Amino acid sequence: MPIRGIIHLPGDKSISHRALMLAALSDGECIIHNLSTGEDVESTRNCLQDCGIESRKEKSIVYIMGGDFKSPISPLDCGNSGTTTRLLSGLLSGQEMDVQLMGDESLSARPMGRIILPLTKMGAEISCNDCKLPLSISSKSLNGIEYTLPVASAQVKSSIMFAALGAMGKTKIVEPVKTRDHSEIMLESLGVEISVNKNEILVSPLKGKLNSFELTIPGDPSSAAFFATAAAMIPNSDLTIKNISANPTRVGFFHSLEKMGGGVIWKNLHHECGELVGDVQIYYQPLHGITISKDQVPSLIDELPIIAVLASTADGPTIVEGAEELRVKETDRIHAICKNLSAMGVEVIEKKDGFIINTPNILQSASIESFGDHRIAMAFTIAGLNAGIYNQIDDMDCVNISFPEFLETLKSIIK
Ligand code: S3P
Repeated sequence: MPIRGIIHLPGDKSISHRALMLAALSDGECIIHNLSTGEDVESTRNCLQDCGIESRKEKSIVYIMGGDFKSPISPLDCGNSGTTTRLLSGLLSGQEMDVQLMGDESLSARPMGRIILPLTKMGAEISCNDCKLPLSISSKSLNGIEYTLPVASAQVKSSIMFAALGAMGKTKIVEPVKTRDHSEIMLESLGVEISVNKNEILVSPLKGKLNSFELTIPGDPSSAAFFATAAAMIPNSDLTIKNISANPTRVGFFHSLEKMGGGVIWKNLHHECGELVGDVQIYYQPLHGITISKDQVPSLIDELPIIAVLASTADGPTIVEGAEELRVKETDRIHAICKNLSAMGVEVIEKKDGFIINTPNILQSASIESFGDHRIAMAFTIAGLNAGIYNQIDDMDCVNISFPEFLETLKSIIK
């Protein structure tokens, strides 16, 4: 069953959230093409709607009207989306809003202290229980701050940056390791005064509304990684994924695949609205194990479940370390990866901050627990292809969080 064909993917989830939020700060109608079709991005759109920011969707185009925010009458429902919660908390704090944010069971267990601390330093008043959702934010006027992030997190960085847009004075943020820089790129392309010097970002407040804009979101490289893995591990495969984000802060998966010996060719690389975009061709070649360490983690943080699957088919051990952030994602992904790989007969050792996969393994199909986590469900669907018989996955509906077209797209490339 080789994997072959040419596919296009829905827009990148991270860029989609940011495009909607920044459109809300604009002076008119913004047109966004190829917005992510996942429920997470719908959560952002719905929350903005509840704050008086009107939008409408026509197929893959979203029209969204920037304007004045209104404090919503009921709590904003962020669903399963950490990005919605953390970025909107920053954005709305900077707009002098009184809001409450809530989410589903998984999101309500995730740490919010990481945004509460800097936003409070800027002058927002935030109340919560144990630094978890629901949050109540009441914000008057914010001041700019200097802040060194204690964890490498693009969500926290962006939360502070979006708050900084409505603050008085400049805000300086220092990252321990560079994380995805979509907020920086989009703000710069929209004419905001922002400077980036290695891991230091300086953001100035907006002087007025942003000019309304039209934008095409590149395909999601995190979604692409699932099909790329299928092509990389099944002999005779050759797959091209068109027009995906090739942003250097996002392509750690593809670098790792190359290091493992996989066939990876980038083509048609070009910039769109400051973002590097291109086509990637993936073909089967024998793979070997690698080590992934702390500094590489942010560039492939969401791809670690599928990298674990890939590594279990390679020759030689793979070590992932410095990835403790995986424990506070939609589920504890280190535990979910190790439990499900073990169920498939893979020799895996769970560590506090990662895992070690020993080889060789003969993957067997198994009953998989997704823990309601979209990336675990998709990674172990792909793992089942290698086992030759599909895995039984307890909940496939959760893939709708990021990629409702996942199964349909997968079926179209199995030849
Ligand atoms: C995201 C940043 C990452 C990533 C998440 C999306 C973003 O989270 O895991 O899926 O859009 O900024 P952290 O910032 O918590 O690492």
